[in-house]
Amino acid sequence: MFILPKKVTIIEVGPRDGLQNEQNYVAEDDKLAFIQALQQAGVQEMELTSFVSPKWVPQMQDAASIVQKAERKGRQIVLAPNAKGAELALAAGASSIAVFVGVSNTFNKKNINRTTEESMDALAPVLAQLKSQGIFIRACISTAFYCPYEGKIDPQAVVALCQQFVAMGAAELSVADTIGMANPQESYTLFTMLKEKLPETLLTAHFHDTRKMALANIYAALQAGVDRFDSSAGGLGGCPFAPGATGNVATEDVVHMLDTLHIETGIDVLQVCQAISRIAPHVSRPIDSGMYRLFSNGQL
Ligand code: HMG
Ligand code: MG
Repeated sequence: MFILPKKVTIIEVGPRDGLQNEQNYVAEDDKLAFIQALQQAGVQEMELTSFVSPKWVPQMQDAASIVQKAERKGRQIVLAPNAKGAELALAAGASSIAVFVGVSNTFNKKNINRTTEESMDALAPVLAQLKSQGIFIRACISTAFYCPYEGKIDPQAVVALCQQFVAMGAAELSVADTIGMANPQESYTLFTMLKEKLPETLLTAHFHDTRKMALANIYAALQAGVDRFDSSAGGLGGCPFAPGATGNVATEDVVHMLDTLHIETGIDVLQVCQAISRIAPHVSRPIDSGMYRLFSNGQL
């Protein structure tokens, strides 16, 4: 018999994962208004942006300005793929940096132009330096279940990569179903293994909702003892280098599910929907989460 947690932390990734896949540039002020509205909804941890090559992901070209202008509230995370990204993030004033590596070599090459091993070798001194400067280090593990190029991923390989990251100084692991292919059994198995091997590390689950399995996978991860989940307001998102992937699980749907289970998140569903209505006119795809649909129909 499992015991559900009383409290869950939601890490809002909409301003980063949610917007990075948008072809049309979303103006800086609209991004900042979205961030502010999410903060007002109760979000305490949020990925604001990423310091990646503007040639690869033009949408994130305003990263430094976003970090400098966003109101400081809770833990604000920025992504950086390499030493240059970390350097730019620090210069902008970031205090929490997420690095990201794929378990799958092929995906990692498509995403950051390096093999997994090359990335880990290059990141080791970067993480050592960040740690010595007191920066909170989050490590995002992509393709932890399936890869769009290599297929099923061995959970042992995920555990090994996570252990390597923890040895290198990561305080948090965000373990991702990049293309939304995992099922609840796979979610339960992997997160149980990770909880057992790395009991001291903050463990977060990051589900994309391509096949509408994310809520079931979150429930399975809760059973495995996970109490931290990445999600994106409006279910926006997707990695531009993971073909077939759609958005992250929608924050408003996750919070609603947790509300019904009497699990506290500190986040207000109605206010998340209001935040989505600010960004919705600026994104190219319709918002199709369950809770936003009710909100739009005046039924929330
Ligand atoms: P590269 O072409 O191999 O880079 O790309 P390079 O090291 O050879 O440098 C080439 C040029 O880029 C140089 O400039 C560098 O200074 C510059 P030049 O001399 O030509 O003028 N450069 C940078 N500029 C800004 N910021 C940087 C940076 N690094 C080098 N950080 C690189 C390698 C990693 C840069 C590139 O592949 C890249 O930016 N990739 C980003 C991919 C990305 O953002 N993917 C989405 C995020 S991950 C994700 O969504 C998954 C996640 O949600 C979990 C999940 O769901 O799986 C986290
Ligand atoms: Mg993602």
